[in-house]
Amino acid sequence: MSAETFYVTTPIYYVNDAPHIGHAYTTVAGDVLTRWHRQRGEQVWFLTGTDEHGEKVLNTATANNSTPQAWCDNLVEQKWKPVWKALNIANDDFIRTTEPRHMERVQRFMQQLKDAGFIYAGKFEGPYCVGCEEFKLPGDLEDGNCKVHGKPCAMLSEDNWFFKLSEFVPALLEHYKKNPEACQPESARNEVVAFLESGVRDLSISRSSFDWGIPVPWDTEQVIYVWFDALLNYATAVGLGDEADSAGGKKFAATWPADVHLVGKDILRFHAVIWPAMLMAAGLPVPGKVFAHGWLLVGGEKMSKSKLTGIAPETITDHFGVDAFRYYFLRAIPFGSDGSFSWEDMGARYTSELANDFGNLASRIIAMIEKYCDGAIPAVARDEELATLLATSVERADVAMCALDFQGGIGAIMDFCKRVNGYVTEKEPWAMAKDPANQIELEKVLYNTAEAVRALAVLLHPVMPTTTQILWESLGADETLGDIKGQKIADVANWGQLPTGSRVTKGAVLFPRLEEKPA
Ligand code: ME8
Ligand code: MG
Repeated sequence: MSAETFYVTTPIYYVNDAPHIGHAYTTVAGDVLTRWHRQRGEQVWFLTGTDEHGEKVLNTATANNSTPQAWCDNLVEQKWKPVWKALNIANDDFIRTTEPRHMERVQRFMQQLKDAGFIYAGKFEGPYCVGCEEFKLPGDLEDGNCKVHGKPCAMLSEDNWFFKLSEFVPALLEHYKKNPEACQPESARNEVVAFLESGVRDLSISRSSFDWGIPVPWDTEQVIYVWFDALLNYATAVGLGDEADSAGGKKFAATWPADVHLVGKDILRFHAVIWPAMLMAAGLPVPGKVFAHGWLLVGGEKMSKSKLTGIAPETITDHFGVDAFRYYFLRAIPFGSDGSFSWEDMGARYTSELANDFGNLASRIIAMIEKYCDGAIPAVARDEELATLLATSVERADVAMCALDFQGGIGAIMDFCKRVNGYVTEKEPWAMAKDPANQIELEKVLYNTAEAVRALAVLLHPVMPTTTQILWESLGADETLGDIKGQKIADVANWGQLPTGSRVTKGAVLFPRLEEKPA
């Protein structure tokens, strides 16, 4: 892995339609992961983007009486970018495969592979699923239909250019044997290894029956196969093939190889077989990890654009808010497993974990400091049990987050939150406040609670940037401790950071009761 930069990518999504919550799931996971690593003090690069070439996008544009370029421009600007902005995605770059910076570097890469002898002319005959943009094997079909889309495949017969994929099978098997972390979860790695062992054919990497793609540099009658084009985005976006002393070359040296490619399990083979083979052919290092997460299901099936089962993120964020959306899917579904979205389950978690456990704790501590300490943080105190539990919770959370176990990471933080609630319930500061003789004890309880809430704000910031920012400001911490983004994971458990005397202020309700919202 490259020493300098922690480089994370999402798939580049097809712009045949607007994003649904399946796309948002991957992108939010990438955002939470990279925000966490930024707060670990690492240099981070987070890339997302759009996959714009190929028959699927072309057909959709044509069916909508549009040119493919105009169709993509419109959807990218009107839908994709605004949805990521609304979900608070802090990507460092956004790549579109129709950009010159991508197309030029793809052509140069392909020419290089041709010159090195890894590309030859051949004839492709067989089934092709436009929905998957994939050449299908007999085992991928059921009654002649694509298993994923349940639709008949096109029968292709084309003179194409082929990549010697089969030559890389031994090296790929060796790679996954030596580096089991390079493909996760384990079920995904097993699938990839079984696929590699079953015999892999060379891959057609060009198409000649339509022209919406990047021209093959030495044969402009053909366009480059959309997956060969698309996979390269991860490297073209950071300067693939540029002169070492140019801006692109320097960026590439500091960034490549990617540390984590986040993908859904639908596109595992492309990322764990074809992509590393392409890199090996070019003599480049392969990615540190391909992580294939599970699917969001609707009625037991993968939510999809083509089956029109996609739920727009706004449908959910309008009701629950953006932060609850970011929280829910990572908290509720083990990363790597399938999960179903249920309005009831999300409502239940929102109320018990966000509104009650976290939101109430936050508003109660601010209210009590206002009421019992005139709104000023009391003298620094240290509850040994809470301080120790915080330290172990941070450690648990950090290990889990770095392992992409978002459920475990968020779980460790929320377990701590539950314990802080228990502490307040046991100490009953409102009862203590009835007798002025208890003032010192009372202030200790309030300080300890405020410190715990400070830590919760920092730890939950990667997951819920907006609400934690509001909380940070009401603790007065932006004035005294600085920007919440700058708070380091390694320092969170240092007890006693909120300075005595700094002012708290009541902020907006973090997670309003759902029934207060319009239906
Ligand atoms: O495959 N559940 O783009 P795509 C979870 N352009 N994740 C889902 C999902 C679901 N129901 N539906 C979609 C492509 N996703 C190619 C990728 S990369 C070089 C090229 C997410 O628009 C998940 O990440 O079909 C999945 O892998 C991706 O969207 C597929 O997006
Ligand atoms: Mg790296």
